[in-house]
Amino acid sequence: MPSILIIGAERGLGLGLAQTLKSQGWSVTGTSRVGADTTALAQVARVAHVDVTQVDQIEPLRTSIGATFDVIFLVAGIYGPLHNSVTEATDEEFLHIMLTNCFGPIRLAHRLLDRLTAKGTLAVMSSHRGSITLNTDPGLKLDLYRASKVALNMLARTIHADHPELSILSIHPGWAATAMGTLDGKVEAEISVEESVRGMAMVLAEHAGSGKSLYLDWQGNPLPW
Ligand SMILES: NC(=O)c1ccc[n+]([C@@H]2O[C@H](COP(=O)([O-])OP(=O)(O)OC[C@H]3O[C@@H](n4cnc5c(N)ncnc54)[C@H](OP(=O)(O)O)[C@@H]3O)[C@@H](O)[C@H]2O)c1
Repeated sequence: MPSILIIGAERGLGLGLAQTLKSQGWSVTGTSRVGADTTALAQVARVAHVDVTQVDQIEPLRTSIGATFDVIFLVAGIYGPLHNSVTEATDEEFLHIMLTNCFGPIRLAHRLLDRLTAKGTLAVMSSHRGSITLNTDPGLKLDLYRASKVALNMLARTIHADHPELSILSIHPGWAATAMGTLDGKVEAEISVEESVRGMAMVLAEHAGSGKSLYLDWQGNPLPW
């Protein structure tokens, strides 16, 4: 039975992944922040806790999860302030999104590498907005979010350079109907959570354990870095 640790799994895409992979026979451990409602997650997974911005929560997480995993998937992330503009952002807004979407998850990933099996897979929830090549749409105010996902992709790929035996996947889940994807119900997304996570489960089935560093969308299509 393959095993996965999902960081940020009590709602949204993380919960969808936990439910889908459990139904496909995976052993699932999922995390939430302390105090979150984990009722749905607990039905399909062992539950642990971590806030990716809090360095002092890493060691307690390591202690509580114990085992090694075939896949560790860092899903937690934020959209950032609605304006998402580099000309409007405060220092605090920029620092917070970079800490939450990039530095926090990657710092945690480094501290969890010894919890991966010998040819394990580290996946990070990226976005097509993290592609420098694809950043050609004028007028789309996503500066902070884009910067955080570009940096996430870069530091994930760096782990592969240092650990070529591991598979490192940066995955774009599609524009999916979560709280983030709909801006809390204000806009319509392109795909459901179920479609997104079914696709990502297929991506894991095909590419986990490949020993490659790949940037792929939820349908397995390669994205340009
Ligand atoms: N939905 C989309 O269309 C879309 C598209 C591209 C990429 N993504 C990426 O997919 C990932 C999941 O997003 P989603 O759409 O599922 O959003 P969501 O429904 O808003 O869920 C976000 C998740 O991240 C967790 N989280 C936020 N800050 C955290 C922190 N400091 N420490 C630990 N967990 C934290 C949340 O936990 P709390 O409940 O405690 O807040 C929640 O579990 C994100 O990385 C996002 O950038 C989403």
